[in-house]
Amino acid sequence: MRRLIAAFAAVSLVAACSNEGGGGAEGDTAAAYPEENITFVVPFSAGGPTDTVTRMIADPMAKALGGKIVVQNVEGAGGTVAAGQVAQAEPDGYTVLMHHIGMSTAPALYKDLGYQPLEDFATVGLVTEVPMTLVARNDFPPSTLADLTAYVKANSDKVSLANAGIGAASHLCGLLFQSTAGVKLQEVPYQGTGPALTDLVGGQVDFMCDQTTNTTGQITAKKVKAYAVTTPERVKSLPDVPTTAEGGMPELQVSVWHGLYVPAGTPPEIVTKLSEALKTALADQAVIDQMAKLGTAPVEAADATPDAHRAYLDEQIKTWAKVIADAGVKAS
Ligand code: MLT
Repeated sequence: MRRLIAAFAAVSLVAACSNEGGGGAEGDTAAAYPEENITFVVPFSAGGPTDTVTRMIADPMAKALGGKIVVQNVEGAGGTVAAGQVAQAEPDGYTVLMHHIGMSTAPALYKDLGYQPLEDFATVGLVTEVPMTLVARNDFPPSTLADLTAYVKANSDKVSLANAGIGAASHLCGLLFQSTAGVKLQEVPYQGTGPALTDLVGGQVDFMCDQTTNTTGQITAKKVKAYAVTTPERVKSLPDVPTTAEGGMPELQVSVWHGLYVPAGTPPEIVTKLSEALKTALADQAVIDQMAKLGTAPVEAADATPDAHRAYLDEQIKTWAKVIADAGVKAS
């Protein structure tokens, strides 16, 4: 019996070790995560819409994880510079990318992207889907969306259209506006729509399509002209701004979904911890109120999950590849 018990104890110990052994170190690391600051990488300028959404959830997520999150802005090439960096980062959960619809458009817009969204990243969960607005400098002549369409048709060689680089949401919306209006405008790229909006308020550029999380303040302060929101319904925080459909351009429908990503190979337990913390942040009343003030809302909890996010990313990559091809836009 004693030998048997000893043998059994030995076996269970081995079993325990093997359970531990395989995932032992990894299991411990995941259990102890986070042990250092987590960096949230934002692929556009500070103060812009993606930065704003990231900073809304960073603190409540850090609290839920029992750690600290620092936000780092890595600008360039419509968000692909930051995505490329995170794809190469250590898959240890300490480098997290916040990206948006740009993750799904980049494969169709960049020949040598340097990463594959579905292969090189693990999805953590969707965050929010932000409506866009067509806005212009205050002294821009057109008053309505119909006037704007006529004006840009008559002055297409003179009108400047700001965006945050090829593949950015503002670029994509600008593409859709131009192909719907049947015009080609002078595109003025920035590292983010934060600085672009500053120049729009200053009158250095004429027109832009940008997210309500960036434009709401300037629209309600009457610092810029707003022609339309790109969603089927008006946005509660901007009750006086008509929809594109009301303005005679029903085809122009786009909103900017956002999600969190980690490098592929990040331990699933850590991805789960991040996803759970994301859900906690999105259920936080202060986050809900901040998002509502800026015209958006958290996604449903079921969408703040790795699988739901991955399925949506896959579908969006296919959707935008076709739209971009149909719009005759070539990858650069
Ligand atoms: C930003 O944060 O600057 C925007 O998301 C850029 C864009 O995609 O238009």
